[in-house]
Amino acid sequence: MTESRKRIVAGNWKMHGDMDFSSELAGAVAAGASDYEHIGVALCPPFPYLAAAAEAVEGTHIHVGAQDVAAQSGTGAYTGEVSGQMLRDVGCWYALVGHSERRSLFGDTNAVVAAKYQAAREAGLVPILCLGETLDERDGGQMESVLAAQLDAVMGDDADVLSDAVIAYEPVWAIGTGRTATPEQAQAAHAFIRGRIATKSDTIARHLPMLYGGSVKPANAAELFAQPDVDGGLIGGASLNAEDFLAICAAAAG
Ligand code: 13P
Repeated sequence: MTESRKRIVAGNWKMHGDMDFSSELAGAVAAGASDYEHIGVALCPPFPYLAAAAEAVEGTHIHVGAQDVAAQSGTGAYTGEVSGQMLRDVGCWYALVGHSERRSLFGDTNAVVAAKYQAAREAGLVPILCLGETLDERDGGQMESVLAAQLDAVMGDDADVLSDAVIAYEPVWAIGTGRTATPEQAQAAHAFIRGRIATKSDTIARHLPMLYGGSVKPANAAELFAQPDVDGGLIGGASLNAEDFLAICAAAAG
């Protein structure tokens, strides 16, 4: 990574934990993360535990993020949805948008992801836009076209929408499988995404933090984060253990 980009390590807890677990994990990360104040650290618990996690990290540099956000703004008759304003209200700084599990299991199309991205920004959240190809797409030589379509749906012709945002490249075949992308594979995908943004705005491309996600563990984090276009990680399984998550933060802190 270059000096102009902040490193970020974000934990996506997915649908794990309960109230006690969430408070304890957030508290343990808060207690250990003071050594890494020059990097961004984020925790993304399930919706019901956001407020408790926000309370546990209060007064530290750690931010809390939601795993999803409604495409609709404000309030309204949208049963089951949670708006960006509500997420801000309970202490969120970030919101994941377009995670592959939302795309594959819950029908979040590129258009839906774009609407959620915009809603997150309008609410003052920092969106973490997740992009990634499946194994079939990679094997079929479609990695770049899939990433381009996912990116372009949000970026359109105006890279300004990516200012103050974060991108996470998460190859679907590496998520929860223990099969991490090699540092070279991660770098190639990140360079492709950054290069595509640079065709619209070199400045925004250069400043955009880009995280790698997919089976990041303490043992492989440092070599992934050593790649020039990898600015940190979006961590699933290993974020459920404070010691492992903090070891990954240490790898990002360098
Ligand atoms: P794992 O780290 O468990 O592979 O999950 C990655 C992920 O999906 C983070 O959003």
